[in-house]
Amino acid sequence: MSDLLASLDGLRGRLRDIAQADAPRLQELRTELLGRKAGALTQVLKGLPALDPEARRSVGAAANALKRELEDALAARAAALAASAGGPATADLTMPGRAAAWTGGLHIVTQIVDEVCGIFGDMGFTRAVGPEAEDERHNFYALNFPRDHPAIDAQDSFYLGPDALLRTHTSPVQIRTLEHYPPPVRVVIPGQCYRRDTFDPSHSPVFEQVEGLAVDEGITFVDFKATLATFARRFFGPKTRVRFSPSYFPFTEPSADMAATCSVCEGRGCPTCKQTGWIEILGSGMVHPAVLENCGVDAERYSGFAWGMGPHRLAMVRHGIPDIRQFFESDVRFLAQFTGGSR
Ligand code: DAH
Repeated sequence: MSDLLASLDGLRGRLRDIAQADAPRLQELRTELLGRKAGALTQVLKGLPALDPEARRSVGAAANALKRELEDALAARAAALAASAGGPATADLTMPGRAAAWTGGLHIVTQIVDEVCGIFGDMGFTRAVGPEAEDERHNFYALNFPRDHPAIDAQDSFYLGPDALLRTHTSPVQIRTLEHYPPPVRVVIPGQCYRRDTFDPSHSPVFEQVEGLAVDEGITFVDFKATLATFARRFFGPKTRVRFSPSYFPFTEPSADMAATCSVCEGRGCPTCKQTGWIEILGSGMVHPAVLENCGVDAERYSGFAWGMGPHRLAMVRHGIPDIRQFFESDVRFLAQFTGGSR
């Protein structure tokens, strides 16, 4: 019994060590003293059953009191260390300073949309927007889609109700603009669109478009080509050439796809342009007279042109980004390459 009391006395001496310990030492002391297997105090408690009842009571009481004291001291020291962590005593004054505060920035696609709208803005186009939830008339019928067009089907479009869907393109804003504003009209319309496409390297069910519309007296195919060629040279560089090829859209007649010489290889052929030297940029055409009439615009007096393009694709071409899904992953390491941010 006296052995055990002596070792309890010895252990009390460790309270001073605890009060002076740093964090790693504190952890060692906790194990040394109270460890479940080999802790010194644990050993004392394990010796109790061998004592006679009276001795067991007095040594047991002393051991338990000391155990509480040790626990309190360990907790107090841990709290004191935590409170001073990062304070003057532990600051490493030799550490390099942080370069610049992280400030975030505009998403690369937002930057492209702003740039595109800015270029057309310089040519007199005003920015316009419209709703993402549309009715079938604005999204399809007023745009001269035939009643049996496959896009007018829940398989291809996200329907919200019998006559409500997420717009599949920004073209309905052509209709909304002409319904509200008599010509002359020149608008550039950025916005989000939705289609039931699989999320793969070149498709996303949510994507951005920039639409354009010009309607006035006397607008011809020459105005149309010159406006879009000017855009291509401003966006891709002054040496850029453009090529129009016949296409089909219900809302334009004639319709044309416009390609620009690949800005990566300057038309020589590379992976970005699939060795063709050309990059498809947009769909376009002269506004179909039926579209004008559907909006109450006199198609005998007015004519116009329209186009639609995908800013994700513009960003992919300009920056050599192989997979559209990267735009949606919110990975700061990817996004920061385009914002000038640092991290
Ligand atoms: N709305 C078409 C699409 O989503 C793109 C388009 C083509 C828009 C020709 C136009 C246009 O305004 O004239 O594929």
